Amino acid sequence: MEKYVLNGGNPLVGEVEIGGAKNAALAILAAATMTDETVYIDNMPDVYDTNAMLQAMRSVGIFVERTDRHSVKINASQIKNYTFDNDDIKKIRASYYFLGALLGKYKQGVVVLPGGCSIGLRPIDQHIKGFTALGAKVTTGYGVIDAKADALVGSHIYLDVVSVGATINIMMAASMAEGKTIIENAAKEPHVVDIANFLNSMGADIKGAGTDVIRIRGVEKLHGTEYTIIPDQIEAGTFMMAAAATKGDVTIKNVIPKHLEAISAKLVEMGCQIHESDDAVRVVATRRLQNTHIKTLPYPGFPTDMQPQMTVALGLASGISIVTESIFENRFKYVEELTRMGASIKVEGSTAIIEGVDKYTGASVSAPDLRAGAALVIAALTAEGFSTVEDIKYIERGYEDFDQKLRDLGAQIEKVDSDKEIQKFKLKNA
Ligand code: EPZ
Repeated sequence: MEKYVLNGGNPLVGEVEIGGAKNAALAILAAATMTDETVYIDNMPDVYDTNAMLQAMRSVGIFVERTDRHSVKINASQIKNYTFDNDDIKKIRASYYFLGALLGKYKQGVVVLPGGCSIGLRPIDQHIKGFTALGAKVTTGYGVIDAKADALVGSHIYLDVVSVGATINIMMAASMAEGKTIIENAAKEPHVVDIANFLNSMGADIKGAGTDVIRIRGVEKLHGTEYTIIPDQIEAGTFMMAAAATKGDVTIKNVIPKHLEAISAKLVEMGCQIHESDDAVRVVATRRLQNTHIKTLPYPGFPTDMQPQMTVALGLASGISIVTESIFENRFKYVEELTRMGASIKVEGSTAIIEGVDKYTGASVSAPDLRAGAALVIAALTAEGFSTVEDIKYIERGYEDFDQKLRDLGAQIEKVDSDKEIQKFKLKNA
């Protein structure tokens, strides 16, 4: 089983290019099936989750061609059935986006119940509430969700919870419903806006994405398009946090600084210097980080997907910091692993009380989920001595060439899959 082996202590220095947003790409791939015409998508990240979606599309007869590593050509006119239920798709959460797409286009769809990171219960009641409001009959059972409708009719839908997935799924179905749909209490994440822009480029009529009220006027047909996915806000934030934790100087390129405002603001509070240009952010951390307090919130608040990475950085800051996770009910599992590296953190319910320590020490840890895995790599980059990070398959679900990008910034990290290779790494970097 592949793992990362690291020798910590090097500040990260240099430049890193950010890829396309995984969480936008997953929804856009599903939305691309809503037309019989050809769709060209650029800046598609080459990660497990997007590849699983592409594989699932091929398995139902959709034409999918990677024209280069980050570009795909899709044509769904020959789709042969409306059931997405295969081993690849079971492992990712975003499978449920096919339901909104199929319901919108074909008024029917069957999709395997979503998988994804175990960071909480992650129900889909708001998705079902929206589809039902539009006139669909939705049943779950035998591991799948089945949705059918004679017709979809626009409706006024109030989300009980700010849900990225439900906002996007309902937006997709409503874009081909008859009449007008209003989604209240909608999620405002950058990738919600990206999917709305993508659908509008196909001829949809969606207004207000990025605010908490989205208005959709259904259309009969969507046409082909060429579209470029926005940069990944969380990949960018992860490298910003790695620069801060290792007291480095890193320029993160191909980003939209506005999407990173909550992260930049907190890093300034912690004593980092942040320099912004049109499409890059430079993070400079010359001295020990200072403590601060964080509460994860829907966008534009501090993103829950940056909570583990921030906790790792605060674990090295001077003083006591408090991190409250308000989105998911079980997103501190990684703290146990971080404690093995010397962190001093007490988790009480949805709050972590962090007493900064001078340093982490190398250890063997395992990634419990995607973002926590990336956070443990950041901890190992700062640690004194060698570390190994196992279960990196979680990390590779959402980070493309993660170890290579870190090596290019001066990190001593390699991907290995034998003890012999670990020994070789240790001899080389002793
Ligand atoms: C998306 O998950 C992302 N995943 C998550 O990123 C991200 O953490 C999350 O949005 C919040 O930003 C993808 O886009 C594939 P939600 P999603 O619906 O859509 C509750 C990563 O690391 N809820 O916004 O599943 C839910 O339990 C992943 O890339 C309901 O109660 O998140 C949670 O407490 C991890 N009922 C809250 O809402 C519902 O029907 C927010 O969930 C739906 C959600």
